[in-house]
Amino acid sequence: MTTDLGRFLIRLDREIRADGDWGAPADYIPELARIDPAQFGIAVALADGSVVTAGDADKRFSIQSISKVFSLACVLGRIGEQIWTRVGRESSGARFDSILLLEREHGRPRNPFINAGALVTTDELLTGRTPRDTLSEIINFLRAAAEDDDIHIDKTVAQSETETGWRNAALVNYLKSFGNLKNAPEETLGTYIHHCAIEMTCVQLARAGRAIAGLPGAPSVIAPAKARRLNALMMLCGHYDGSGDFAFRVGLPGKSGVGGGILLIAPRRASVAIWSPGLNVYGNSQMATLAAERLAQHMGWSVF
Ligand code: DON
Repeated sequence: MTTDLGRFLIRLDREIRADGDWGAPADYIPELARIDPAQFGIAVALADGSVVTAGDADKRFSIQSISKVFSLACVLGRIGEQIWTRVGRESSGARFDSILLLEREHGRPRNPFINAGALVTTDELLTGRTPRDTLSEIINFLRAAAEDDDIHIDKTVAQSETETGWRNAALVNYLKSFGNLKNAPEETLGTYIHHCAIEMTCVQLARAGRAIAGLPGAPSVIAPAKARRLNALMMLCGHYDGSGDFAFRVGLPGKSGVGGGILLIAPRRASVAIWSPGLNVYGNSQMATLAAERLAQHMGWSVF
């Protein structure tokens, strides 16, 4: 199976590069806007412990919103179900940085993967500790999950988003006005921006997802019942207003980031990380989505 998959990934890498319809990198974070969109990497961590790769699988990229899965995992580990008093678990049908529903729904974000929701989970994690300790908890979770200590924050990307992230500044202040923020808005925002700026390779990210996929031999960083819930949220909300399209095309839970990464989970079979920095209209990677679709189809992986 591994050799068939290896051959398939090499072919996929070739097809994606030949296609060339890369999309455009995120333009609202200047440091990400500079990245060449014509890049592609994929890593597939399998149940037998192997990791099969193709393309730029060892190149570090900004995981951005994929970090929201791991900050939520930390919050679920810390306070469990209580988090749902502050944030919902429904699809939003709106852009990842939308403020619209927040007014109508009295400051309780629809789900933990849109920016407003992730600001709330970050705020919960920050309560009673410093931003530095909070970031260490998220990074240490990732290092333990990936069994790799070489995972860090890209301070240049964090600085770049700090200088231009006006919408998140609006969202965090809006949350505060509704009483759904325990800490100072700038502290929560700064912590959020820094966990989004964690950089990882596809290989590291695929390995970090093994526990969420419930793969045998994965480090036990999250209880299986909680991992199931993360998968459900990824399926319904992992690609924002593009979540339905992603479920339709790929049929597996996934979480995208505006850095062009996608963490894709084939429960009990594989944890997959795909990266290509050009985005589609929803702010999800254009070519990583296509690759996810082709991989799921080729392997017969689907939760349906
Ligand atoms: O808050 C932001 O806008 C970014 N740090 C993360 C957004 C993101 O990754 C959306 N993903 N597709």
